[in-house]
Amino acid sequence: MPLISWKPEYTVNNEELDSHHQQLFDLLNMVYDHVMNSLEVDFVLPMIEKLSDFMIYHFSAEENRMRENRIPEIDAHIAKHREFTNTIEILKTHYNGNNLEIAQELIILLGNWLLSHVLLEDKKYSEVSLGIE
Ligand SMILES: [Fe+2]
Ligand SMILES: [Fe+2]
Repeated sequence: MPLISWKPEYTVNNEELDSHHQQLFDLLNMVYDHVMNSLEVDFVLPMIEKLSDFMIYHFSAEENRMRENRIPEIDAHIAKHREFTNTIEILKTHYNGNNLEIAQELIILLGNWLLSHVLLEDKKYSEVSLGIE
């Protein structure tokens, strides 16, 4: 069972950013499957690396779109992205090789953060850009 699934109601009214969110959810589910259903944790760290790289890529694309659309409170949103990027970095440095438990913790944290960020924070800019405020 997937950890989180993207649904049409999660849309942020931007095709590119919706597609990033879908790819992030897919990547996350793939790592989750791996980490929960197998003991081969050797592959987990590179997958988590790939996921966090894509997350960073998405943050910067999202921030650019927000700047272009002059979304208010952009600084607070960027600070949330930065704070989370730092948390991932800290957790990754504590991940030593084959520790399945830490890998599981990491992936659940990523999933929870991502889902609530998309639903609460990203939704805000999508509504502002549509003038729904
Ligand atoms: Fe986002
Ligand atoms: Fe965001």
